[in-house]
Amino acid sequence: INIPQFQQDLITWFEKEQRILPWRENTDPYRIWVSEIMLQQTKVDTVIPYFNRFIEKFPTLEDLAYASEQEVLKAWEGLGYYSRVRNLQAAVREVVEKYDAKVPTDVDALASLKGVGPYTKGAIMSIAFSKPEPAVDGNVMRVLSRIADIEEDIAKASTRKIFENVVRQVISQTNPSAFNQGLMELGALICTPKNPSCLLCPVQQHCIAFQKGKQTELPIKSRK
Ligand code: ADE
Repeated sequence: INIPQFQQDLITWFEKEQRILPWRENTDPYRIWVSEIMLQQTKVDTVIPYFNRFIEKFPTLEDLAYASEQEVLKAWEGLGYYSRVRNLQAAVREVVEKYDAKVPTDVDALASLKGVGPYTKGAIMSIAFSKPEPAVDGNVMRVLSRIADIEEDIAKASTRKIFENVVRQVISQTNPSAFNQGLMELGALICTPKNPSCLLCPVQQHCIAFQKGKQTELPIKSRK
């Protein structure tokens, strides 16, 4: 794989073809954080109206920190997995108290916040702060398993770290935000679980699974 060519092909495609989504209007780390928490267990089309209403109601991190839990739960009603928003409010309250209401740019400080796991941490670092950190979820594992022909079992908890190390080797240092979001967008629009659109894929030339005709056999996911 020609890494600079791969990075450029992915980033150029993302910049041209990305969907217009409300959390892509700016890079406010609070908005990126809210969107990534909502998107963890919920589909984009469902998240959009919730995200817009939530940001209208709590435009800044401080607005969310000072709101009542009841008011916050009401804005989340229908999204489910309510521990997500309880953790989010606890975390933004900690950011107000400990970091003067500024989302920390230090990876370890970010990771110590309630509800901020490796994926959310990487998404905030790269999208909001332009830092070259991996943001690996199931979609990104699917895309990379095909491009790099990785046969690790994505159902195993320990596999995410393997993919994070792959991302560390190939991520663009100059535009990590578009690189990570490009992987996410490719997984959503082209490199789908079933019937991936390989003939339209901007990184088809770099894809080992496509070259071998095994794209529909990847990723490997045991049932357990
Ligand atoms: N899924 C997870 N994060 C996303 C994002 N930032 N944009 C679109 N889909 C996503």
